Amino acid sequence: MATIDVSSATTLTAASSSRSFSSSLLVTTLRSSTALRVSFALSPFCSSRDRFMARMLAPDTLGLTLPANRSPKGLSLSETQFISFAAKDIDVTEWKGDMLAVGVTEKDMSKDDNSKFENSLLRKLDSQLGGLLAEVSSEEDFTGKTGQSTVLRLPGLGSKRVGLIGLGQSASTTAAFRGLGEAVAAAAKAAQASDVAVALASFEGLSAESKLNTATAIASGTVLGLYEDNRYRSESKKPALKSVDILGLGAGPDLAKKLKQAEDVSSAVIFGRELVNSPANVLTPAVLAEEASKIASLYGDVFSATILNAEQCKELKMGSYLGVAAASANPPHFIHLRYTPPSGPAKVKLALVGKGLTFDSGGYNIKTGPICSIELMKFDMAGSAAVLGAAKAIGLIKPPGVEVHFIVAACENMISGTGMRPGDIVTASDGKTIEEWILWFVNNTDAEGRLTLADALVYACNQDVEKIVDLATLTGACRVALGLSIAGVFTPSDDLAKEVLATSEVSGEKLWRMPLEEGYWESMKSGVADMVNTGDRPGGAITAALFLKQVYDCMIFHVGDVNWMAAHFYNYVIHFTTKRKRLIFVALEKLVEHFFKLSLRYFPLCFLTLVS
Ligand code: BES
Ligand code: MN
Ligand code: ZN
Repeated sequence: MATIDVSSATTLTAASSSRSFSSSLLVTTLRSSTALRVSFALSPFCSSRDRFMARMLAPDTLGLTLPANRSPKGLSLSETQFISFAAKDIDVTEWKGDMLAVGVTEKDMSKDDNSKFENSLLRKLDSQLGGLLAEVSSEEDFTGKTGQSTVLRLPGLGSKRVGLIGLGQSASTTAAFRGLGEAVAAAAKAAQASDVAVALASFEGLSAESKLNTATAIASGTVLGLYEDNRYRSESKKPALKSVDILGLGAGPDLAKKLKQAEDVSSAVIFGRELVNSPANVLTPAVLAEEASKIASLYGDVFSATILNAEQCKELKMGSYLGVAAASANPPHFIHLRYTPPSGPAKVKLALVGKGLTFDSGGYNIKTGPICSIELMKFDMAGSAAVLGAAKAIGLIKPPGVEVHFIVAACENMISGTGMRPGDIVTASDGKTIEEWILWFVNNTDAEGRLTLADALVYACNQDVEKIVDLATLTGACRVALGLSIAGVFTPSDDLAKEVLATSEVSGEKLWRMPLEEGYWESMKSGVADMVNTGDRPGGAITAALFLKQVYDCMIFHVGDVNWMAAHFYNYVIHFTTKRKRLIFVALEKLVEHFFKLSLRYFPLCFLTLVS
């Protein structure tokens, strides 16, 4: 089953002219040449030949971005930080180790007239600690609010430290328990703790299922909270945390399996984060394709991969994608992974399409001005990071009953003599003929995501799937519309909207359904070609989605109706950069949840294998 069809891209030709892309064969050769790297560093581009060579330099050679202690070749990903999770049904006062962390709500913190906790677990723990917990919580005004935490260092007891972590008024959501896990990770880092235990002060009333979900949310929060991307720092400290015991939420094989699943999903989230965080001179379209191929070979029992080079994309008439890629010295790579469930037939077939711009300069409509964020545009492949992260998670978990296609038209949006000009006319592929196709007048080369997605969506439609979800950092307008922490989703299907919005509630990642206002399409009409690629500024997120809708509408003639959804989640990405943290990536968990739900819906018998 592990068919890996990675085309060896030699000299490639772009769609609309004889512009040539650099050869990845040559790139590979240069990349391994230390001599060349050194001479580049010492005497940059003196002769015209040097200048030519500079253009052809391998992306990870350009800039010599070699973090210390790392392989000099290609993308470096962090080694998996292994933490062992165990669910135990023991009394918190009996636990021994570096730190015991107790999640408390504001209600749990209420005290009686004698300043003793009313909550039985806290009362027991506090009496073991001689009243220290009650004392410190009053002194520090710790009331159990979200974000509050306090840690005590204790002499000569079973646990070296005891911490209280605030969960707010009441804790019932996945997001709240993931937050608890993150706070535990932060406290463990500060204390350099190697083994910790987490418990809840009150868990009465939690059903067996919500105990499972709570434990897994704590586990994934801990893994993700502990993670730091230190790949591009010359020095960094490895976290000491090795083991986490989750107390009082049950024990046994069901829970152990759920915890393993949480670890798998978290490792896939980290993979996604590292892709997004990798600089564009390291993570080129070729490197992204290489990572996708690695997933396919790692989980060869359930994946097959097809990577198309520019020549092959040209044969498929992907003019709109190749137009965007035309300026770049790093050739485009079209990525298609296919997941087939290990046993039984697929009852539902889906495609996930991710925007994969490894850098978006804007092209000739270059991003200028202080708020354009050009220096962040390595993240314009976050959609594809989510999609490939989901592929990794699905390879690990192997859900039955679903066939999933993962599709990315990876390229860079750059500027050069071979680049697409504002005013050029491009045509996307329809996969079969060009008879009913649309000719787009490119009135803005910075609206490139939709041009690459058009060809990717056509390709997805031709995979005989019933549902397609695309994830893209598509418009700044979506951020203006929804602010920094809500992603916009567009779909004509009420059912799909309901399905995805329900999973977003569960995973705590916020989505908002946006309107596909047909009237706004007026501003997309062209006097020269069929359409322009950019409409009026007001409603910019909506016109971008209408552009994608047009692709699906055209495909109806060929493949019939598909349920589709476009998720613009630019918000998440920018959210974390503005806080001066690393780019992080959260959409992935939602996606994986979504698959479970879909599998559950179509395969009720798989309920146990999937969610337990
Ligand atoms: N990748 C950008 C969208 C974006 C902008 C993401 C800022 C994250 C931060 C996209 O390709 C783009 O440039 N969109 C334009 C569209 C416009 C030209 C119609 C935008 O939003 O300005
Ligand atoms: Mn752009
Ligand atoms: Zn872009």
